[in-house]
Amino acid sequence: MKNILGIIGSPRRLGNCELMVKAVSRRIDFPHRLRLLRLTEFNLRPCRACYRCLFEDRCPIDDDHQTVVEALLASNALIVAMPTYFLGPNACLKRFVDRGLSLYPHIEALWGQPAVAVGVAGIPGREGYTLLGIESALRLMFADVRAQKVVYGALPGEVFLDATNLAAAGELAAALFQPVPPAAGPRCPLCGGTTFRFLDRDQIRCMLCSNAGRLVTEGRDVSVTITSGPHELFLTREDALAHRQWLMDMKARFQAQKKSLQAIVRNYRGEGDWIRPPTAPKAP
Ligand SMILES: Cc1cc2nc3c(=O)[nH]c(=O)nc-3n(C[C@H](O)[C@H](O)[C@H](O)COP(=O)(O)O)c2cc1C
Repeated sequence: MKNILGIIGSPRRLGNCELMVKAVSRRIDFPHRLRLLRLTEFNLRPCRACYRCLFEDRCPIDDDHQTVVEALLASNALIVAMPTYFLGPNACLKRFVDRGLSLYPHIEALWGQPAVAVGVAGIPGREGYTLLGIESALRLMFADVRAQKVVYGALPGEVFLDATNLAAAGELAAALFQPVPPAAGPRCPLCGGTTFRFLDRDQIRCMLCSNAGRLVTEGRDVSVTITSGPHELFLTREDALAHRQWLMDMKARFQAQKKSLQAIVRNYRGEGDWIRPPTAPKAP
């Protein structure tokens, strides 16, 4: 039986995110086990940038992170629902993604896991970058995002006062185990992203795969050309594996430049008065 992991980014029990995940699961038309994980409950400390996980297969920080990694590894598909908090997904998602180097040893196991993304916002049109944040997080988990939707509802349960959101759950369920169909509208031809940053003139960058290109307008038609560059996130498994290797090679690059780097940073030592958190351990 397939294991489907529902990742819920809201602290509210039986809130709209939880309902959306369960409604999608109910509409998957074969028997499966739904495992649920409320990401806000997990103690996820900030990444310490030690890079040890790249070499040791797990993060050395002693908190709840590994439980989430193991849940990802044990699942066959993902339903991720995040509430919009101040125009973006709840910060629990970013806290998990920031520890993402520890997923690199599992690229082969995680690559291409089917996923659907739901952003829940209280006010129509006020979802900000919530969906981009979820899609980006899923790509950094090496998942294959099959469909994504924003739904609106502020009060717990309110999403299903609107029957179209139940229909949206059905569409997400149907999409989860189907190849992504060609989509209408201007989007990144490489990754399907729909969020772009304007650079100079008609130059744009896709905020999902980080590749750059141009916005092309012909009369009323708008299209996007994007070319693949180094470090894209991640169009193929090989890109991901190559990026992992590039990160691992950083150790040697650091050793080679250590003296000149130390000379740069030494120049800034001892400047400014630090405000320390009252709960921080005292310096020895
Ligand atoms: C701290 C906080 C910030 C929020 N910020 C936004 C926002 O920027 N835009 C918006 O549309 N809704 C915002 N909301 C509303 C939630 O996205 C909405 O209530 C959603 O249904 C929450 O999902 P849940 O029921 O699963 O908790 C915010 C809610 C909270 C608690």
